[in-house]
Amino acid sequence: MLPQTLEWIGGPRGHLRLIDQTLLPERLEMIDCWTPEDAWQAIKRLAVRGAPAIGIAAAYGVCLAVREDPRNVASARAAADYLATSRPTAVNLFWALDRIRRVLDRYEENATSDHSEDDSLAAELLREAVEIHEEDRRRCHSIGRWGAPLIAGCRGVLTHCNAGALATSEYGTALAVIYQAHRSNPQLEVYADETRPLLQGARLTAWELQQSGVDVTVICDSMAAQVMREGRVQAVVVGADRIAANGDAANKIGTYAVAIAARHHGIPFYVAAPTSTFDLTLPSGDAIPIEQREPEEVAQPFGVRTVPAGVAIYNPAFDVTPNELITAIITDQGVIQPVDAAQVAAVVAEPTPTAAG
Ligand code: MRU
Repeated sequence: MLPQTLEWIGGPRGHLRLIDQTLLPERLEMIDCWTPEDAWQAIKRLAVRGAPAIGIAAAYGVCLAVREDPRNVASARAAADYLATSRPTAVNLFWALDRIRRVLDRYEENATSDHSEDDSLAAELLREAVEIHEEDRRRCHSIGRWGAPLIAGCRGVLTHCNAGALATSEYGTALAVIYQAHRSNPQLEVYADETRPLLQGARLTAWELQQSGVDVTVICDSMAAQVMREGRVQAVVVGADRIAANGDAANKIGTYAVAIAARHHGIPFYVAAPTSTFDLTLPSGDAIPIEQREPEEVAQPFGVRTVPAGVAIYNPAFDVTPNELITAIITDQGVIQPVDAAQVAAVVAEPTPTAAG
């Protein structure tokens, strides 16, 4: 069984523990976050990453703001604003923080009650964070159930980045579909793109599939089209960080190229994501903010210089796959197919709260 990607230890004055994903696959180590700054750093440097996991970590991150002073609404609000600055693309971050802010609003609206002697703010924040966490478990398993029939006849599937247990509460989104299909088809082979520049596919997807007993083969990103041409995969399943109202989907850089290759080879391209990843305030993917990361990640990956010093680097962390390249979006509420604004609206009933970024 895989270890918990992240967990809250203790009661309202407890703390957040998470797997330091920057150390995988060499070392499986946990880090403890005691302050919102600790949580912000963990998100920023990708110790915890993947859209749903970022949202859960941020929700717990606000709880850390009231551990010392469990009635300090201002400190909780400041922490929510601060955590929202950690990464711009995954909408789950803003979605989770909006839910937490609504707890703060309710608490302040009830200001007439005497809170002077209780820990109710800290307790209510923690209750909401735990609910966000638990809800994600349910959503991931539901995605698995909706998606597995779509890849039931496949011998091989290709995935990009890591949209697995490590990116969520557990089970994953794209990998939930794969784990669920693997139950009835243990021969299923997974091709994992290594996912340059930070190798989430090679380091994380390969690690968690291996731990889970799923047959996995790592390929360089540039090999995906050849793997399709050789007939090794019959479907692609990837996750998403933010999906616009028309179904355009942002995911890890390189996903768009995989979708183009899949279309060329007549291979279905599925996006798997919880409804908390939809941003219905954006009409199309053009408006999705794309995170730009440090040049060193490309020039000196894992401390080894691979680009001459002084050469310019462009390092967008995500790209947007247009809806016409997506065969279906697998959500916890059902499958969106064809992928267009009408079908998105039909399946995703609840609009996502205002998403900053
Ligand atoms: O930069 P990362 O590692 O946070 O990027 C993660 C991805 O792109 C995932 O595919 C996405 O968040 C979906 S996670 C279920």
